[in-house]
Amino acid sequence: GETKLVDRFGRHVTYVRISVTDRCDFRCVYCMSEDMTFLPRAQLLTLEEMAQMGQAFTELGVRKLRITGGEPLVRNNVIWLFQQLGQLPGLDELTLTTNGSQLDRLAQPLRDAGVRRINISLDSLDAERFRRITRVGDLDKVMRGIDAALEAGFEKIKINTVAMHNRNEDEILDLVDFVHARGMDISFIEEMPLGEISHDRAESYMSSDEVRERIETRYQLTPTTETTGGPSRYFRIPGSSSKVGFISPHSHNFCESCNRVRVTTEGQLLLCLGQEHSMDLKKVMRSNPGDMQALKQAIIDSMAIKPKGHDFNLDVKPVLFRHMSVTGG
Ligand code: GTP
Ligand code: 5AD
Ligand code: SF4
Repeated sequence: GETKLVDRFGRHVTYVRISVTDRCDFRCVYCMSEDMTFLPRAQLLTLEEMAQMGQAFTELGVRKLRITGGEPLVRNNVIWLFQQLGQLPGLDELTLTTNGSQLDRLAQPLRDAGVRRINISLDSLDAERFRRITRVGDLDKVMRGIDAALEAGFEKIKINTVAMHNRNEDEILDLVDFVHARGMDISFIEEMPLGEISHDRAESYMSSDEVRERIETRYQLTPTTETTGGPSRYFRIPGSSSKVGFISPHSHNFCESCNRVRVTTEGQLLLCLGQEHSMDLKKVMRSNPGDMQALKQAIIDSMAIKPKGHDFNLDVKPVLFRHMSVTGG
């Protein structure tokens, strides 16, 4: 049915991103600082609480849940959560965003829990470079994960690539070839200023238009109105089953059509990726145990504080203090 979640600007919230952990087995340079510390486990929502959260949102009309992190697949027993959420009536899509490191083992259980589509982050096809970007990641293991996902029979696999000058700009065409050869999609992402990191984001920043120009030296890109319900603007490569998307928070702001909110691993409802406006849902849940009505009312009330949009600026400090690994992207 209709969503009960409509904000002051008339935007309908139908998509919720739930972060299940701030931990990750990688340390991507644009996402984390080198000496990242993680939240004490006692502060995190339990998986049972996350399942209730999913239930509350779907009862309010949310139709898409995406599990994020950190790396969601490093959370113990996370498959149990997928199994619970996969049974929620009213849900059109249960999905996740992963770095791929655990997929060799977990692709099939995810598929069996009802996940039909999966997004995998991949910024380089070169092992040494991949290591430099992720600081610790093992490209071979991720490649085995991608292969396992291809074999598990997902309807679509999308690769996410943060496009960066001096890091992977010369691999953009190779990455498009890579997805094209495997029937996958790809989205190129403009780097966002979340959290203090070790490089100057204004220097690494690459706009979607620059990425697109590079792709068009080899492939024809035809705009399409197809959508996956997220911020990606898609193009088709004629004769290919692959879509090429651009997520362009800086160059093509998409806040006007925002349909989503996120729950952090500590149970804070964040109304915008680029702002601090939040509602403490963990507190609501723990002071009214088992009271779905109280939880749902708090979520409805939060619509009054969903901000109009982000105001990312790569040239100005301070950036948002919170890192992407805490926010879940
Ligand atoms: P699809 O369901 O495939 O459309 O996925 P998605 O793009 O919504 O999710 P994914 O986790 O793959 O996110 C890709 C990138 O988009 C990440 O860098 C996210 O941080 C970014 N992103 C998603 N939603 C928002 C948003 O509301 N604002 C901004 N600025 N970035 C977002
Ligand atoms: N800017 C843009 N994308 C980012 N990601 C992580 N941090 C950033 C950032 N600062 C991407 C990851 C993953 C997705 C969830 O967000 O690469 O694909
Ligand atoms: Fe981990 Fe994802 Fe952040 Fe990389 S982008 S450090 S894979 S949470």
